[in-house]
Amino acid sequence: MMKGIKFMSNEALLKEIGMLNPMPGRVASATRSLNPLVVGIIVVAGVVILAVTIGLLVYFLGFERKPYIYQSDLHIRNVEYTNQLESPTSQEYRSLSRTIENLMNKTFKASNLRSQFIRAYVARFRRDNEDVIANVLLKFQFKGATSAASMKRRIEQILRQIQNNAGSLTISLLPTEVKPIDPVVVQDILIKRCGTRPELITLSFERIIQGTQASAGDWPWQASLWINNAHRCGAILISDTWLVTAAHCFRISRDPRQWSVTFGYSLRSPEIRANVKNIIIHPNYMAPTHENDIALVELTNRITFNKNVHKVCLPEANLIIPSGTRVYVTGWGSQISGGNSVPILRQGGVEIISNTECNSPENYNGLITSGMICAGIPGGGTDACSGDSGGPLVLADSRQIWSAVGIVSWGDECGLPNKPGVYTYLPVYRNWIKQETGI
Ligand code: ARG
Repeated sequence: MMKGIKFMSNEALLKEIGMLNPMPGRVASATRSLNPLVVGIIVVAGVVILAVTIGLLVYFLGFERKPYIYQSDLHIRNVEYTNQLESPTSQEYRSLSRTIENLMNKTFKASNLRSQFIRAYVARFRRDNEDVIANVLLKFQFKGATSAASMKRRIEQILRQIQNNAGSLTISLLPTEVKPIDPVVVQDILIKRCGTRPELITLSFERIIQGTQASAGDWPWQASLWINNAHRCGAILISDTWLVTAAHCFRISRDPRQWSVTFGYSLRSPEIRANVKNIIIHPNYMAPTHENDIALVELTNRITFNKNVHKVCLPEANLIIPSGTRVYVTGWGSQISGGNSVPILRQGGVEIISNTECNSPENYNGLITSGMICAGIPGGGTDACSGDSGGPLVLADSRQIWSAVGIVSWGDECGLPNKPGVYTYLPVYRNWIKQETGI
């Protein structure tokens, strides 16, 4: 063979190669187009293997942070138990739970668990003779490899220090020690409470609300009232069977059988649909003046709360909101005066305006009565609009628990300067709601 090749001319050699590769051009081009494909597959495989390796490394080396929630009972020896501590929206409940949460936050943020600690939340109070027992949830995020038992000991150690340094409170730790609690169980407890939004349900940080489209679960008490196969009004969920809305929504029909209710932030694919058993319109509702623009809607069946659908808190009857307070209005109403409703829930931040200011000649010139409250933006802009009626105006307390303080009622067009939104002022109707629904 060697010999044969050696004696071949260049031409013969080329011919022989040509015979081995009868279509050299095609083979060469096929090789060229195959190479990028192979290279591509190798690159993709490489990237996948690398990603999986990094993922496994991160997991096993414990970079992943898992949430852990612990609960502990604190005996508050210098606070007398009152019935107010049964109602999360009462002044006493709010201020005592705030004091305890602040103390916990301060202590854990100064402890050796500071980088794992997320937040403290007082879940409930109960009575112990004359004293108060506070059930406190503590959320941490630990690296994967941390042993839960050693964490429990460290938490207990820190809580024991609190006993000697509790500021205005006299606290003693109960022998019932610190116990872990499943975050899913905590979520199930919190969605049954009024006024909880996602950041509280997951015991995480306060979320910034942008003045735009809402996400699923952002305003879980927002409902939509439907008639003739269309969204007509907003409504506010206050229990698993009752909603509050505006009386003027029913000018078209008061027949419960014509109405239905949907829940969830998307009008086109609601989380829950429900039928209406009963509509109670405030007996003193006056259409011309919009006075007492409030109605109650009872559902035919109880709905089951989930993380995207649950109730808001109702304010105490004596609530006074200082002007300038930031509140939020939500709804599927139109974005311009006289426009169509939108398919995805929208949210907007507005400020409370005092009735005196709102009644000034440039504003509503005396049309605002004690059962109403105004909210808007000083130069105009963010506002409710048609289709938002009956929906909520909500206020968060310092613990991020939300109460409905108003019902979208009326306004001169939408978003005009000096023409803020006018809302039915819920505290004024607190006792009427209690009387009609028991809530
Ligand atoms: N009446 C309107 C409705 O039926 C709501 C008006 C609210 N207007 C306002 N500018 N905030 O949907």
